[in-house]
Amino acid sequence: MPDYILVAVAWPYASGPRHLGHVAGFGVPADIFARYQRLKGHRVLMVSGTDEHGTPVTLVADKEGVSPKEVADRYNRIIGDDLYRLGLSYDLFTRTTTRNHYRVVQDLFKTLYEKGYILKQTTLGAFASTTGRALPDRYIEGTCPICGYAEARGDQCDNCGSQLDPVDLINPRSKIDGSPPVFRETEHFFLDLPAFAEQLAVWIGAQEHWRPNVRTFSLNLLKDLKPRAITRDLDWGVPIPLPEFADRDDKKIYVWFDAVIGYLSASVEWANNCGTPDAWREWWQNPNSRHYYFMGKDNIVFHTIIWPGMLLGYGSGGEIGGGSVAAESERVPLQLPFNIVSSEFLTMEGRKFSSSRGIVIYVNDFLERYDPDPLRYFLTIAGPENQDTDFTWAEFVRRNNDELVATWGNLVNRALTNVYRHFKAVPQPSALTQTDLRLIEHIEHGFGTVGDLLDNARFKAALTEVMRLAMQVNSYLSDQEPWKVIKTDRERAGTMLYVALRCIDNLKTMMTPFLPFTSQKLHEMLGYEGYIAGPLEFREYTESDGSVHRGLTGDYSGWRGHWQPGSLPAGQALREPQPLFKKLDEQVVAEELARMEQRASG
Ligand code: MF3
Ligand code: ZN
Repeated sequence: MPDYILVAVAWPYASGPRHLGHVAGFGVPADIFARYQRLKGHRVLMVSGTDEHGTPVTLVADKEGVSPKEVADRYNRIIGDDLYRLGLSYDLFTRTTTRNHYRVVQDLFKTLYEKGYILKQTTLGAFASTTGRALPDRYIEGTCPICGYAEARGDQCDNCGSQLDPVDLINPRSKIDGSPPVFRETEHFFLDLPAFAEQLAVWIGAQEHWRPNVRTFSLNLLKDLKPRAITRDLDWGVPIPLPEFADRDDKKIYVWFDAVIGYLSASVEWANNCGTPDAWREWWQNPNSRHYYFMGKDNIVFHTIIWPGMLLGYGSGGEIGGGSVAAESERVPLQLPFNIVSSEFLTMEGRKFSSSRGIVIYVNDFLERYDPDPLRYFLTIAGPENQDTDFTWAEFVRRNNDELVATWGNLVNRALTNVYRHFKAVPQPSALTQTDLRLIEHIEHGFGTVGDLLDNARFKAALTEVMRLAMQVNSYLSDQEPWKVIKTDRERAGTMLYVALRCIDNLKTMMTPFLPFTSQKLHEMLGYEGYIAGPLEFREYTESDGSVHRGLTGDYSGWRGHWQPGSLPAGQALREPQPLFKKLDEQVVAEELARMEQRASG
């Protein structure tokens, strides 16, 4: 029986191109996990999309003097292209401005409201003293009341990480014109988080498989739960689905409330796109399914407290959850997260990534000059899985040359060129020695050890283990020297090369989740047909109102790869070998640093 696994990937804001820090945190780890689970034969649903509402998008739109929709359209395309080029194998990467998403969000809001989990309250809101327009949290800056940082945002201090309210700021000022805001009363809806406190405490308490920092942090948050505002004085967002609010263009649902629902709405959309509208229930209303969420650490609270609270409140109720099953007692409640895989931050040459200060490497820019697999390699082996880490060009070049090229690339290259030159096909082995058998067995054992690490989202350790295995095959070749033996004993040399190819074939499968592009190349060089794990494609989807949007998807059911020892057939014709990776010139470091300095000063 396959397992049902939801891979829920954080939704990037459609407010700019994505930089390496973003994809290190949510994209690459999630894709490695999804590919691995598919190779294991499980039913994987990997969903996400661009997060298009709220002030991150309106800030850019205001600055450029264009509509938020225009900004969202532009970055939805650019980000989709980035993810495609990185090989992130979403079953659906969609967006939050679809009809479908609005419908699912409104169903959750309405259901939670009807069940009494959403309360109306009057609060103090900030408005511009000059224009009278509402000033969203992110439009307000001031001094942090906790650490004294002078440029804290209305919602959060980037220096000490505290969650803030604009009224708390010392000397608050509008980011638009610097004027101090005025605070006046405004009506908003609040999610009654304290109502779920007990259930959340029991649930989180039992999640011993979470990364310790995620669990401890979340348990701490529970000590001080307050109702949380889920609407904003803004004209860009999902309309509030209550009679006196539906048509108002000055109050919308808060971007975070709608974005987390994206995991569900994208699953519903995927099922519809496939022509099997109820298929999403196999993940969401199946108590045996497991949901894995991938994100950066600044997103934890939304995934361990707020979204689970919303799911608990919604239960099996509402139009979407209920479907055609009328009796609520016969429905299965929506699944809670199984694991929250949050990563730390990636810095850039010792500094915080900052688009405004030019300290940034955009994914699209990077992929203009370098291949995706070396980037995926670096972000996995040296990325911020458990602690903040630094991207430096020197380290990127070193890891590429001394590890990827020298170990894995070199192994594949020397084995395949030798076999191809002398045999053109997988050699027919004669009797295998103890050493041969032990090596084959040792490498095959990797499916278990590497697999266990991947199951536990320990990507860096898993890739380190595959590299260690590759080194052992390299040592075998260096010891046995088939290129010398061939001069005197062609049969034995053929057997040695056969052993090496068997191991390389298995390592190829183990490398596939990490390095899908070069694994495909190797798959072809070994003489196989079809896709080991690909390809991705864009499709256009038309909704009932005629609007069209593009989604990143793929038909992954035809994958030829399987997470198990292969049986490379002797005699299989090989294709002419090509190097898998390029050695990078040391010059690259100076060039890229100069490019960065130019951006920072320009
Ligand atoms: N857009 C958010 C960010 O970039 C992430 C949203 S994740 C989801 O920080 F939960 F909303 F999906
Ligand atoms: Zn602070």
